[in-house]
Amino acid sequence: MSGLSSAPEWVWVPAASAIAREAGGRLREFFAQGVATEYKGDADLVTVADRTSEKLIRERLAEAFPEHGIYGEEGTRDRLESEFRWYVDPLDGTTNFAHGFPQFCVSLGLERRPEGLAAEEDGTLAAAVIYDPMRDELFVAERGRGALLNGKPMRASRTPELSEALVATGFPSRKRHANPNIHFYQEFTLRSHGVRRAGSAALDLAYVAAGRLDAFWEFNLNPWDTAAGILLVEEAGGRVTDFSGGQFKLDSREILASNGLIHAELLGFFDDMFAGRNLAPIPTPREFAAQRAGRAAK
Ligand code: IPD
Ligand code: CA
Ligand code: CA
Repeated sequence: MSGLSSAPEWVWVPAASAIAREAGGRLREFFAQGVATEYKGDADLVTVADRTSEKLIRERLAEAFPEHGIYGEEGTRDRLESEFRWYVDPLDGTTNFAHGFPQFCVSLGLERRPEGLAAEEDGTLAAAVIYDPMRDELFVAERGRGALLNGKPMRASRTPELSEALVATGFPSRKRHANPNIHFYQEFTLRSHGVRRAGSAALDLAYVAAGRLDAFWEFNLNPWDTAAGILLVEEAGGRVTDFSGGQFKLDSREILASNGLIHAELLGFFDDMFAGRNLAPIPTPREFAAQRAGRAAK
């Protein structure tokens, strides 16, 4: 299979990669054509590309893995009692896609749920495939078998501290006024090499796994955004927790992923943020306007 090593031990990744590539190819066509945008709510967008991609992935996964469950962003809820469950984001980065900004992907994460597991408990992430159709980049992992980018092993970065890190985040498209993340964005900007907000959480996580980013955090993501990316990061040697250092759960609603080396420092930073400690002051727009007016008057 192109983009994968020929190692015989891959169980789910070969078929899932072919499906992600096919869905990504459809997204590329829609992107070239341009599509109309609809609103699911507030600033939450959806397009025919999201729905077509999910339909295709649902059909192909059912052909390849007839016993597996599927939980998709655009409404698929198939065979959820199964031992295996795919979390499907058929187009992660819809806002980018709708605006012609070429940063989006297909994300497929496989969870193994042993018999008897309570509905609210997490199983184990078993496989991950994220495909960026604009760069033709395929990020894959299986638990215990490592992580690859276009067939080559991926490693999280070796950056030792936040002051040398490039980090990323995102913002929700629902309940935007209830989200404090802009404060974190500001403080991270002052303490690191910079913060990227590129608009695809799944790709952000894949980039942490690939060592292109040193950390990523976000509030209020869903399992289809994170399932694949978490396994990529872990298999690439990074670490994923909630903001308190607790075990990340698919419905945690908060994710902190890093290269592992800066994780403790990041957790301390989140503690400080939540306690309102050690925050660097910057001028308010009003204070800045007064300084600006003062300069103009000289
Ligand atoms: C969104 C993207 C974005 C993140 C949002 C997600 P969607 O997913 O991952 O980066 O900030 O919270 O909802 O809606 O494009 O699949
Ligand atoms: Ca998403
Ligand atoms: Ca989506």
